[in-house]
Amino acid sequence: MSNITIAIDGHSSCGKSTLAKDLARALDYVYVDSGAMYRAVTLFFLENEVDPIDAPAVDKALDAIDIRFEKMDGQNHTFLNGENVEEEIRKMYISDYVSPVAAIPNVRRALVQQQRDLGKDGGIVMDGRDIGTVVFPDAELKIFLTADLDIRTRRRFEELMQKNIPSDLALVKQNLLERDHIDSTRSDSPLKKAEDAVVIDNSRLNREDQLKKVYLLAKERILKTTA
Ligand code: CDP
Repeated sequence: MSNITIAIDGHSSCGKSTLAKDLARALDYVYVDSGAMYRAVTLFFLENEVDPIDAPAVDKALDAIDIRFEKMDGQNHTFLNGENVEEEIRKMYISDYVSPVAAIPNVRRALVQQQRDLGKDGGIVMDGRDIGTVVFPDAELKIFLTADLDIRTRRRFEELMQKNIPSDLALVKQNLLERDHIDSTRSDSPLKKAEDAVVIDNSRLNREDQLKKVYLLAKERILKTTA
């Protein structure tokens, strides 16, 4: 059976990572959260007071950043220069700053290179904003996930509550709107649906139903590649 590449893109907080994780588990594939990498770079920039418009400082910082993922208790954890930053990078102050950092071309170039390395052998599910358009334009399966803004807001708010991260419904909504705007309008690899992506609106789909739908698509593409 061949190992295909699966790209899942879409707006902020529409459940991409839940779907990507479930799918990777069902197929026994590797899961990579590309957003966590942009969040980790953002944390480094904030901790080290790197000015995003100071190009040499940005390049120096990128050289000093090492991002890795490790599976612990079945969950993916993000490590920045050896430190587990999984909890920190999910906080609102990172969400508030990540999209401008992710719009910097040299940041994208560095992370896209790492993402391609991680996926070079296939057998991977990666979620993000430009996975099907830029990182893996030849991915065998591309999903563009979407959901109503109010549903996305509620989901993210509940996720933060579960993690005991203080938040506010109106601020969460504002953050999603702002990120969607910056992510979709930036000049370098904006968020957009790849022409050959399958669009899934999961506003009214539960976790099992969305997994079932995409799992069947994945199996179909795997069979096609094997044939
Ligand atoms: O909060 P959510 O899970 O929806 O977002 P995320 O996947 O953690 O990504 C955080 C931010 O990183 C996005 O709002 C984008 O600005 C940026 N990002 C990107 O530019 N390209 C990617 N492939 C993934 C994330």
